[in-house]
Amino acid sequence: MRVLISGAGIAGPSLAWFLSKAGIIVTTVEKASSILPHGQNIDIQGSARKVVQKMGLVNEILKYNTTEKGTQLINSKGRPFAPFPVQKKGSNTSMSFTSEFEILRGDLAAVFYNATRGKENVTYLFDTVVKDVISNDDESVKVEFSNGDVQTYDLLVLADGQWSKLRKQCFPPESIKVVDKDMFAVYWTIPRISTDNDWWNVYAALGRRIVSLRPDPYGTIRAMFTRMPLNEQHRQEWITAARGDRRTQEELLKKEFTDAGWQAQRLLDSIPTAPDFYFQVMQQIKMDKWSTGRIICLGDTAYAPTPLTGMGTSLAINGAYVLAGEISKLKEGEHPQVAFERYEGIYRPFVEEQQKVPALLPGFVHPDGRGHRFLISLLASALSRVVRTPWLVGGIGKMVFDDVEGEDFRLPRYEAFED
Ligand SMILES: Cc1cc2nc3c(=O)[nH]c(=O)nc-3n(C[C@H](O)[C@H](O)[C@H](O)COP(=O)(O)OP(=O)(O)OC[C@H]3O[C@@H](n4cnc5c(N)ncnc54)[C@H](O)[C@@H]3O)c2cc1C
Ligand SMILES: *[C@@H]1O[C@H](CO)[C@@H](O)[C@H](O)[C@H]1NC(C)=O
Ligand SMILES: *[C@@H]1O[C@H](CO)[C@@H](O)[C@H](O)[C@H]1NC(C)=O
Ligand SMILES: *[C@@H]1O[C@H](CO)[C@@H](O)[C@H](O)[C@H]1NC(C)=O
Ligand SMILES: *[C@@H]1O[C@H](CO)[C@@H](O)[C@H](O)[C@H]1NC(C)=O
Repeated sequence: MRVLISGAGIAGPSLAWFLSKAGIIVTTVEKASSILPHGQNIDIQGSARKVVQKMGLVNEILKYNTTEKGTQLINSKGRPFAPFPVQKKGSNTSMSFTSEFEILRGDLAAVFYNATRGKENVTYLFDTVVKDVISNDDESVKVEFSNGDVQTYDLLVLADGQWSKLRKQCFPPESIKVVDKDMFAVYWTIPRISTDNDWWNVYAALGRRIVSLRPDPYGTIRAMFTRMPLNEQHRQEWITAARGDRRTQEELLKKEFTDAGWQAQRLLDSIPTAPDFYFQVMQQIKMDKWSTGRIICLGDTAYAPTPLTGMGTSLAINGAYVLAGEISKLKEGEHPQVAFERYEGIYRPFVEEQQKVPALLPGFVHPDGRGHRFLISLLASALSRVVRTPWLVGGIGKMVFDDVEGEDFRLPRYEAFED
């Protein structure tokens, strides 16, 4: 069997790993010229930890941990308060926004890529995209690459992210729903200075803006602005910038964050020379059906949940495992739609559960006025004290923080992946 994957982010290379384990021939095309190093800390939760364990990559992932000590809030005078230290494996005496399974998104993509690229029957083509799907029928799926090559595969997996162009080409527009979460985020990397520390420092500026700095394992600092628009016109302004070029985005950020306070000016000054700059619109993707004929969507392409859920990466990893597993069960000559239906049947309920973002959460952490910010600081200080009081944590910890250690999604067992 020959499988073509579009996109080498998180979902693509993890799918390639399991398909190749099942003896399937895999080609992955990636638009960029290398694995993109962009992005900040992402967390591997619950069952996805079991999946990376099956891949034998736990130690590799821990090796690339973000070195973050925990999270702390910054007050209007620039002083830290309400610290939440990192959660250590197997202990339930502390809880935190940082977990041991946190790694930079770009590092995780590279770990998966490195674990697959040398394998027999696995090929990566960079600077290459599928330009056109020529046919998708009972026999095969035929595509034309950007370099003019025409090739035939048994199935095509779209793992090219939230804004997949191929998804648009292959699925009717009314079957794809974009759910706006009323929030924007911008990420980039800046040089470290002597006053920086190894905490995730979060400053809630007034006017629904957040400024944050966190360490990485490379001696640099990852900067982030997030913003919730104040009204519909404001939202449109941000959407327009998101679709525009980097200059337009820089102009907007300058206009909107110059008076934010704390280290906002330092961050603004560093944007023009940042090697990586990623502007994200918090929008979820929901599809009526994940497949059509021999083409199936995986990861953010099918069900982007937004970073607000903290589940984007785990959903991509679990999804890759189940999809590969169901494909591995196909009998000689059986139509891949059989595997696609089984995969969607098993996995969709979990996905829908994870896409539920508490509606008030983003608004709560983005205060617009001083009163609101004061409330947040009270709550955070109280919680931070609870964290250091072991006997209280069990119940409240589960309610407020959802760092999942156990199996949140029941992973099916597949013969092809057992050693
Ligand atoms: C640059 C970048 C930075 C991110 N930063 C964060 C972050 O800081 N925090 C967070 O929570 N989430 C971040 N995300 C999203 C996060 O990676 C996903 O939510 C999750 O890991 C699921 O991954 P995925 O593989 O489905 O999609 P993605 O990680 O988006 O990967 C898609 C891949 O497809 C490639 N691609 C796009 N178009 C084409 C095409 N036409 N043909 C071939 N390849 C194509 C992209 O270059 C990318 O490598 C980021 C995504 C990207 C692309
Ligand atoms: C690679 O593919 C060939 C042809 O299908 C197959 O004979 C071989 O066993 C595969 N190799 C691996 C390591 O799966
Ligand atoms: C986390 O990263 C640091 C520095 O990169 C390293 O020294 C440490 O051993 C890592 N932790 C684990 C558990 O691998
Ligand atoms: C975690 O909590 C449970 C129940 O609250 C307790 O039985 C267990 O001993 C705790 N584990 C650790 C490592 O503290
Ligand atoms: C991947 O492999 C390359 C080349 O061997 C190496 O430079 C890089 O550090 C590796 N990255 C990860 C995250 O394993």
